[in-house]
This record gives sequence, structure tokens and C-alpha cells, in this order.
Amino acid sequence: MNLQLEERTFLVTAASKGLGLSVAKALVDDKANVIICGRTESSLKNAVESLGNRAQYFVADVSQSVDVESLFDFIKEQTSKLDGLFVNAGGPPPGTFTEISDETWLKSVDLTLMSAVRLTRTAIPLLKESDSPSILYSTSISVKQPISNLLLSNALRPAVIGMMRTLSDEIGPEGIRVNAVCPGYIYTDRVNQLMAAAKSKGESTEENIIDKIPLGRMGTPKEFGNVCAFILSPLASYVHGALLLIDGGLYKGMM
Ligand SMILES: NC(=O)c1ccc[n+]([C@@H]2O[C@H](COP(=O)([O-])OP(=O)(O)OC[C@H]3O[C@@H](n4cnc5c(N)ncnc54)[C@H](OP(=O)(O)O)[C@@H]3O)[C@@H](O)[C@H]2O)c1
Repeated sequence: MNLQLEERTFLVTAASKGLGLSVAKALVDDKANVIICGRTESSLKNAVESLGNRAQYFVADVSQSVDVESLFDFIKEQTSKLDGLFVNAGGPPPGTFTEISDETWLKSVDLTLMSAVRLTRTAIPLLKESDSPSILYSTSISVKQPISNLLLSNALRPAVIGMMRTLSDEIGPEGIRVNAVCPGYIYTDRVNQLMAAAKSKGESTEENIIDKIPLGRMGTPKEFGNVCAFILSPLASYVHGALLLIDGGLYKGMM
């Protein structure tokens, strides 16, 4: 399918590997230009090498407002418009309620919620210059059902959904589409690490998780990236304010 992304520019955050990189890859495969960010320059260089000459990187920690400002200074040197923003960040640390300090809560608010707030606020003027602007928030199945030992994700990601749903009313009339995707288990380094940590505590192993997924496997980054590129593209021009699970059927609720 031609997603009509030629000559369009997208910012994909937290994208030197994993889900972010898969979205950047799907976008460049459809001839879009992408700017990616992450905290580690060496990983970003490798990522851009794998993406080809339509990709550029900038080193930025999206949990830091000063880095978000510098990232947009860089973007404005490259382009006068953005056609899409994929909002992604590293995951907040695992832990149960009694284990998590105030400091960790507040750092996680910056990482998971305020990164989305600041990226959105700074991107809007550039998005307004596009004829098909779109923002896609990457959250988690944890916005639909809590995941054990991931209290911070369970508590903070729903706030991003609340923001997205509110923005759908506030900036929809200006033509900017906003949506969210909720991955279940997509096989990335982070999922590998969570599996290993759970296994070392004698908790749910990969097999136990896969047993609960009707499609009988975890998703691949490519499957995730393709769906996200579609939602960001002009082909999804009437998809707005929506939450899409990408979970192989793992979520069992009716709504
Ligand atoms: N994979 C899944 O199945 C799944 C399911 C639900 C939710 N999620 C969530 O989706 C997000 C991405 O997961 P993933 O599986 O792709 O993880 P991953 O494979 O560990 O990749 C994380 C990427 O984010 C970058 N990053 C981390 N913290 C950052 C920050 N503060 N600022 C900028 N970049 C940052 C990392 O690069 P640097 O470390 O160099 O910055 C890396 O490029 C996480 O929040 C995760 O919790 C994933």
C-alpha cells in the first residue's frame, strides 16, 4: 500500500531501537523523511545507518524539557513543517507500590507524561504547517488492564490517553489528528529484559504470557511499525481520538 508519505517529515522519539525504530523504518520504507532521537549517540548512529539517507538523528532525553527544546531547535533548522509525531519514551521502571519512592514517581511523570505534553506542545506550530498532520502516542495495554509489577506504567499511561482524548476535541478542529496505540507484547530488548527479570523472580515466563495471547505469539516490531505508519499517514485521515490495541488479542475486555 502506498501511504503517500513522500516529501513528508516525521519525528519519531525514543527510536534508536525497539518500537520507535520499527515505526521510523516503516515510515522511511514508504519514502518519508524521519528525525529520530534517543539518549545514546552510538545507538542512534547505527539506527540511522540502518534507515538510510532519509533519516537524521538528534541526541535528546525526552524526559528533560531542555532536551525537548534543543530537539525542536534542530528540527526547525531542517524543516519548516512536521507531518507527524510519534510520541514514545523508555518505559518507567518496574515495581510494586511499596517499592516505589516519591523520587521515582516524579521522574516517571517526566518520562511518561510530561514528555508527551512537552513534545506535543512544541510540535503543534510545525504540525499546523502540514496538510495532513497527525500525532500518535505509543502507550501500552496497561491503559486497558493493569500489568502486575508495572505500577508506574499502569498509573501514568492512562493520563496520556486522557490528554489525547482531550486534544482530539481541542486540536481536531485545526486539522491535527491524535490517536494512541497500545502494544501488548512486541518482541524488543525491553520485553526480553522484563522476561528475564520476571524469570529470575520465579514469575510469569514467556510461555505463560504466550499462552494468554490468542494468536499464540508475541508481535514483531515490523508488525507494530506498519500499523503505526498507517495511522500517521494521510490514508488514515478519518481516524481521530482512537485507541488501537496491537496485542494479538491479549486484552479480554469488551470495550
Ligand atoms: N515492547 C513492548 O511490547 C511494549 C509493550 C508496551 C509498552 N511498551 C513501551 O514502549 C516503549 C518502548 O519500548 P521498547 O520495547 O521499544 O523498548 P527498547 O527496545 O528498550 O527501546 C527503547 C528506546 O527508547 C530510547 N529511550 C529510552 N529512554 C529514553 C528517553 N528518556 N529519551 C529518549 N529516548 C529514550 C532508547 O534509547 P536510549 O536508551 O539510548 O535512550 C531506545 O531507543 C517503552 O516505554 C515501553 O515500556 C513496550
